[in-house]
Amino acid sequence: MIYENIIDIKDLYVSYKISKNEYVHALKDINIKVKKGECVAIVGESGCGKSTLANSLLKLLPENAEIKGNVQINGINILDKFNDELSEIRGKVAGIIFQEPAAYLNPVFTVKEQIEETILAHNKNLDRKQIENIGLFLLKETGIEDIKRVYNSYPHQLSGGQQQRVMIAIALSCNPPVLIADEPTTALDVTVQLQIINLLRNLKKTRNLTLLLITHDLNLATYMADRIIVMYAGEIVEDAKIKSIKESHHPYTYQLFKVIPDINKKKGDFILIKGEVPDLRIMLNRCYFYERCFKAKKRCGLQHPEMKKSVRCFFPM
Ligand SMILES: Nc1ncnc2c1ncn2[C@@H]1O[C@H](COP(=O)(O)OP(=O)(O)OP(=O)(O)O)[C@@H](O)[C@H]1O
Ligand SMILES: [Mg+2]
Repeated sequence: MIYENIIDIKDLYVSYKISKNEYVHALKDINIKVKKGECVAIVGESGCGKSTLANSLLKLLPENAEIKGNVQINGINILDKFNDELSEIRGKVAGIIFQEPAAYLNPVFTVKEQIEETILAHNKNLDRKQIENIGLFLLKETGIEDIKRVYNSYPHQLSGGQQQRVMIAIALSCNPPVLIADEPTTALDVTVQLQIINLLRNLKKTRNLTLLLITHDLNLATYMADRIIVMYAGEIVEDAKIKSIKESHHPYTYQLFKVIPDINKKKGDFILIKGEVPDLRIMLNRCYFYERCFKAKKRCGLQHPEMKKSVRCFFPM
């Protein structure tokens, strides 16, 4: 059965318990539908809940997280599943890669051992040679040149770019239709960043992947994505096909575009968004962006805006 929306998130709330009766409300009222083959970017400043959202999709949250709502990937209700079922599902419905590949690769096992373990977990009827062939093919598919050497190496013997390619190979080893990438290039050198981004673009095409790209880089988001979801303080404030500042509707999106480092501008020309992100322990009965918004009016300080069409703002641009 083919689901029109391969990712379907409904009324998702995630809070982290930080003391007896104190919570960080990291995600609130999240509703997202992603069509098969779409590339959607999630953007926003540090702490706005991007990683919490990525991890919620595969129920990879820490112990102190409390989740409410519904997450479906390819028709499977992820949040209803428990540990043993989850390890079967993860990797099969969606692969995930992170900012620091080194932190997720096991330092005491070779690439071969780590890739083959995931292939074996989902293909118990294959023999050793068949599994190795799949592993080597995956490395080739991720653009690794020195396949045999990399295959038998330990993670620390590889460059950051190679490590990220290995992570991508592992994430794709069970042919998931969805790939979630949480800041996949932030920790890499600029030239390597571009290689990994273009690799993701190519894999998306050849494998017809649905790609959820999490990034704080609006330039990258406009380059890669069909659609951009802008988050602020744990909420979605805009969800639209945006390619430039002219198409932004929420004042926050507009201001984010304004602070994009422009290579034509001299250093020091950047205008930062003034003010601070609100304290996520407190649920506010007003717009979370109120204090920092250049368009705020009285109403914005008195009432919390709901998501309307594609934007959460009483006075969209
Ligand atoms: N395990 C945890 N316990 C308590 N609070 C947490 C936990 N993990 C994250 N948080 C808080 O939840 C909020 C959202 O964090 P999250 O990591 O999802 O943001 P992010 O948008 O991914 O940030 P970044 O761009 O820095 O990666 C932040 O205020 C963060 O401090
Ligand atoms: Mg993050």
